Amino acid sequence: MARPVIHILNGPNLNLLGSREPGIYGHQTLDDIARDCTALGGDLGLETVLQQSNHEGALVDMIQAARGLAAGIIINPAAYTHTSVAILDALSAFEGPVIEVHLSNIHKRENFRRHSYVSARADAVIAGCGAQGYLLALHHMADLIAPSST
Ligand code: DQA
Repeated sequence: MARPVIHILNGPNLNLLGSREPGIYGHQTLDDIARDCTALGGDLGLETVLQQSNHEGALVDMIQAARGLAAGIIINPAAYTHTSVAILDALSAFEGPVIEVHLSNIHKRENFRRHSYVSARADAVIAGCGAQGYLLALHHMADLIAPSST
């Protein structure tokens, strides 16, 4: 049987992970994260598709494309977290669970990072766990989409 597909979407500047402010975002690259998600997804019976864009409209297109295809979305909208009603609206039109991930603890940083538009739609939010946050999100996603035992 086909495994449920989880789309893992990443916003601007996350293509630079590994070299971008490693004291805040860690040393793992997005490719490292994709590899770890693929491995854990396999253990959890999930297929993962990781995508990244620096462009708001492209992220909206990715979210729309996930409709009817993905069982769930894990998203780190990066800076668009704090600005994008368009990404919130696109996620609101997605029928499955949504988990918001941030590598850093956005509540411990500048004030402008404390507000997330995406949190109004997210079923769960993980912040401050570094790259491990994506793996925690996958574990929780597996629970959220598991068929009910009743
Ligand atoms: C981030 C936090 C955002 O405030 C920031 O703009 C990012 C990354 C994080 O993963 O910690 O680019 O989403």
